[in-house]
Amino acid sequence: MAPKKYPHDITFVSPEEEKLIVKCIYGYLKCGTFVKVGPQRYVLPAKFRRCAEYIYNMRVRPDDTWVITFPRSGTTWTQEMVWLLQNDLDFKTAKEVPLYERFPQLIVTAQIPDLAHYLIRANFMNLANFQGLDAAIRQPSWEAIDHAPSPRFIKTHLPLSLLPPNLLDVAKVVYVARDPRDVAVSYYYLQKHIGKGIVRASFMEFWEAFRKDLLPFTPVVAHANEAWQKRNHKNLHFIFYEDLKKDLSLEVRSMCKFLGREYSDLKLSLLVDHLAFDNLKKNKTVNNNLHNDQKAQFIRKGEIGGWVEHFDEKMVVQAQEYLRTRLAKVDVRYPTIPCSVTDTDCWESEKEVTHL
Ligand code: A3P
Repeated sequence: MAPKKYPHDITFVSPEEEKLIVKCIYGYLKCGTFVKVGPQRYVLPAKFRRCAEYIYNMRVRPDDTWVITFPRSGTTWTQEMVWLLQNDLDFKTAKEVPLYERFPQLIVTAQIPDLAHYLIRANFMNLANFQGLDAAIRQPSWEAIDHAPSPRFIKTHLPLSLLPPNLLDVAKVVYVARDPRDVAVSYYYLQKHIGKGIVRASFMEFWEAFRKDLLPFTPVVAHANEAWQKRNHKNLHFIFYEDLKKDLSLEVRSMCKFLGREYSDLKLSLLVDHLAFDNLKKNKTVNNNLHNDQKAQFIRKGEIGGWVEHFDEKMVVQAQEYLRTRLAKVDVRYPTIPCSVTDTDCWESEKEVTHL
């Protein structure tokens, strides 16, 4: 039997689910629906159907470097680090060429519904050429990347199972994970910033969609777990956002080793400085603010545990329950999530204590 060109089922979300999703996500308002893909039921814009098979069967190259993440997990930060390490610390080019051109996003064309294409072209909400969308509107991003000259740097929020099956055998891949509660807050603010006035959801509603695994690219824990299971593969470097925050210099060195690069201590200290939060936030080629006054910036607060400011008591309990159920089925463990959340016995006794 000939091998299947695309092995995953793709089905539409239900009308109730769609209602909640569109309330949370800019631009999808009445102009596109969503699908669920594969055994993990990853939520993606329906336009993903145009590129699912193409991407799954795309030719991976040995000199590719991929950065894979769930949105808002530290993608941009990691991309800039990886690109510079792979390009002889060429700060000059990094300051001149936008990150989205040096390190384009695989399915960006499918993430933007047709109506939003028009809005972006009209510079609606200061979104002129947001993330290089002018180019992505002219040619599908996956085709442009497929035909781009080597070496390629590819960013994607797709989980490993939706990417070419030989990816890890051929190319170098970096996966970044982050505490899902901080991801939820960060994801909310990005949507709010991009769709000022259009995103009607409160954070509570956004969280509702997040914990029901209804936002694009969810379920987040399954997403991370796919990479976690492969973390010992020689071509996969699995890192946590929280570790980047804890010791950036150490993580830069470990990334260097993974990429097979060597630099002097002095040069690496320049890179660490370049990647520091305050510097990256001001950096126009990285932080999406090449156009004057552009509001949809990627770099916001850069904190660990900021979620506590946004979750009321009920949401804290919901988050614990969410993490407990999702983590019960998988191996991945997050540095900021205590064992009491994942260990059933601990959790049960904690619940008893709370109820006393
Ligand atoms: P917050 O919204 O919590 O501040 P992504 O690039 O995947 O969209 O991730 C964005 C998140 O990474 C944002 O989180 C952003 O502020 C944070 N980030 C980006 N650069 C950072 C840096 N140098 N130090 C700390 N956090 C950073």
